[in-house]
Amino acid sequence: MAISRVKGTRDFSPEDMKKRRYVEGVMRSVFESYGYEEILTPTFEYLELFLKKSGEEVLKHAYIFKDKSGKDLILRPEVTTPVIRFYVSNLRNRPHPLRLYYITNCFRYEEPQAGRYREFWQAGVEIIGTNSPEAMAELIIMADDVLKRLNIKHYEIRIGNVEVLKNLLSDVDDRIRSKILRHIDKGEIEKLKEYDINYEKILSIITFSGGRNELEEIAGKDMLLLMDYLDDAGVRYKVDFSIVRGLDYYSGIVFEIHNNKLGAQKQICGGGVYSLGELFGFDIKACGFAFGLDRVILSAERENVLPEVSERRFMLFLFDKKYYKKALEILRIVRKYYKCEMEIMRKKIKKSLEYANSKGIDFFIIVGEEIEKGYITIKDLKRNVQEEVPIENFEEYIKNL
Ligand code: HAM
Repeated sequence: MAISRVKGTRDFSPEDMKKRRYVEGVMRSVFESYGYEEILTPTFEYLELFLKKSGEEVLKHAYIFKDKSGKDLILRPEVTTPVIRFYVSNLRNRPHPLRLYYITNCFRYEEPQAGRYREFWQAGVEIIGTNSPEAMAELIIMADDVLKRLNIKHYEIRIGNVEVLKNLLSDVDDRIRSKILRHIDKGEIEKLKEYDINYEKILSIITFSGGRNELEEIAGKDMLLLMDYLDDAGVRYKVDFSIVRGLDYYSGIVFEIHNNKLGAQKQICGGGVYSLGELFGFDIKACGFAFGLDRVILSAERENVLPEVSERRFMLFLFDKKYYKKALEILRIVRKYYKCEMEIMRKKIKKSLEYANSKGIDFFIIVGEEIEKGYITIKDLKRNVQEEVPIENFEEYIKNL
């Protein structure tokens, strides 16, 4: 019998990897443009790290094992907790706020289905040093920016505040409270009736649809400030107090981004204000979010917005330096769709064609004096035919090659 792949894991073909690297690349460049710096933590940690603050739900699905020396270890089910561990031990002396990001795999022993895997990737960011509405606004604006740059359209940002429900449930035992919040997170509202709580009040909060005044009363000034910032940024969102997140460490404003076209696994991003400092005996103000990279890729595939990066290769030959600017314009267009290199060895056209042929280049673009009349010459090296294409049709022409 052939040895198969472990359930819930995937192999990625060169084509898959191209898509993944593209989406990752967009995320990376947006995060970095906002001043975030990349870090990485180990794939496994001492189990202890996750025991107190992650919550039962996460631990239930964690890969927990003993190493050869008998130590209890865990494959990271998420990255925020290790980042705070790293911060406490090594990064605390840096100027605050720290803006950090990571793109890495996580492990959860969940029942696999489309969009849900046992090994999946998160692209996450953490701001350490503040959890101000300004910080939360930056996070949500940045997440929105990523999705806009990927041209993904079907998403909805939902903002809540776990403090509201946690305060309402302050008399309830910690474990029971977590359970109740879990039910709310999963939309299991009927189950709430089984608990000795103010059901009507909780229901009115999680189905809240009132105006600003009421909102300020329920969620406080910070929530309104955040909403003002998002309005100014032109980011669309909905207030939804049933957003309580699946991890126990959240302590204030939270948000999720859903893509309703993805079905059950519609949550493509989640985050908020959290308190993990207590784990280490500090008061650490922090907030962050993580995209589910696999689900963002699924969204982009479903909406057919991933640019076709074809394997076809182009080369541009410039006859005269005086057309260099034109050549750059042409390269910019070609490189939207294909890989295109430029002749830089001062070769004559014959030698350059020989090189192109020997490298297996498909199309040879010649920018010569015909550009003055508005034409670009394209030679199909495989078919050995040549055509003069008017500049205004050039993009359409090469797109359809
Ligand atoms: P999370 O919501 O548990 O948050 O995970 C973040 C994202 O990972 C989810 O929105 C989802 O898209 C993706 N995800 C989760 N489980 C799976 C799975 N089994 N298969 C595929 N994708 C999955 C966190 O982990 C927090 N650490 C986020 C955060 C960062 N909060 C503050 N900073």
